[in-house]
Amino acid sequence: MKSKDFISIRDFAPQEIWHFLDVACQIKAHPQAYSSALKGKTLAMIFEKPSLRTRVSFDVGIEELGGHPLYLSPAEISLGKRESVYDVAKNLERMVQGIMIRTFAHDIAEQMAKHASVPVINGLTDYSHPCQALADYLTMLEVKGRLGGLKVAYIGDGNNVAHSLMFAGAQLGVEVWIATPPGYEPDGAAVAWAAERCVATHASCTITNDPVVAADRADVIYTDVWTSMGQEAEARTRREVFQPYQVNAGLFACAQPDAMFMHCLPAHRGDEVTDDVIDSSRSFVFQQAENRLHVQKAIMRELMGDGAIPEREKVPDSVLELVK
Ligand code: CP
Ligand code: NVA
Repeated sequence: MKSKDFISIRDFAPQEIWHFLDVACQIKAHPQAYSSALKGKTLAMIFEKPSLRTRVSFDVGIEELGGHPLYLSPAEISLGKRESVYDVAKNLERMVQGIMIRTFAHDIAEQMAKHASVPVINGLTDYSHPCQALADYLTMLEVKGRLGGLKVAYIGDGNNVAHSLMFAGAQLGVEVWIATPPGYEPDGAAVAWAAERCVATHASCTITNDPVVAADRADVIYTDVWTSMGQEAEARTRREVFQPYQVNAGLFACAQPDAMFMHCLPAHRGDEVTDDVIDSSRSFVFQQAENRLHVQKAIMRELMGDGAIPEREKVPDSVLELVK
């Protein structure tokens, strides 16, 4: 692996992304074979934002690999206020074998990875959600049986989920379309990175303000909340601006007749998606949620498994050795 951490899909080569997906598939098919893979290892889980799926899937995932989860709530650590990111990293690396972090500024996750000698996994930042993207593409593979040539249309906010979907799509040879209202497009540097990567992988990445053009004959229609965690003050404005981007029966009908609907969840039913779409037989949102468990087990196994973590300083067998 190029990186000791899992901070961004961009930090890996396409074959490494495929490897994570392959391991996830094997773990999903044969969970018992991996029940001791991380025996005795502890994953510290730092949450500065709420969660259902990330919390449960990492918690259950590390247990199923033979290890232990350690949940650290926002009030407990108070990253950067009670204690610096550097000091938190230097403390945790001496007691746990991996760190999962859900935080606001992406830079905090990067700093944690830089300072901690143990693997750090990004469980969502304002900028990206790489574990989600791996689960998304595993789900598409399971349902569609391929990724190459698939048209994936993400309709809504050019946010963290959109960024990771775009990065992973560019790595895996997918035709990704992102339709947002003007002013809510994905980050320019993120789009530029994806466009460059697409050249080598025969993928494509198109940004538009037209949801119908994006949805037209798409194999996958994907959406996310209009107001992400931390943006609550903008909720009213966003609700108005994003209305034309709602995934409803009309927009879903523009896609292929067998198109799948995806959503990272939590969903705000009646806003970004209507009940008839999210509850339809072509909605795979709960399979997608379950796949968080399998891909994260693969990530933890690859990054925290024996040999992946550098040895710490030699520890004497007896305190008497210290007083010689
Ligand atoms: N999709 C996702 O990350 O869900 P949570 O916010 O509930 O963890
Ligand atoms: N974009 C959403 C994703 C939640 C999983 C948020 O950041 O709140």
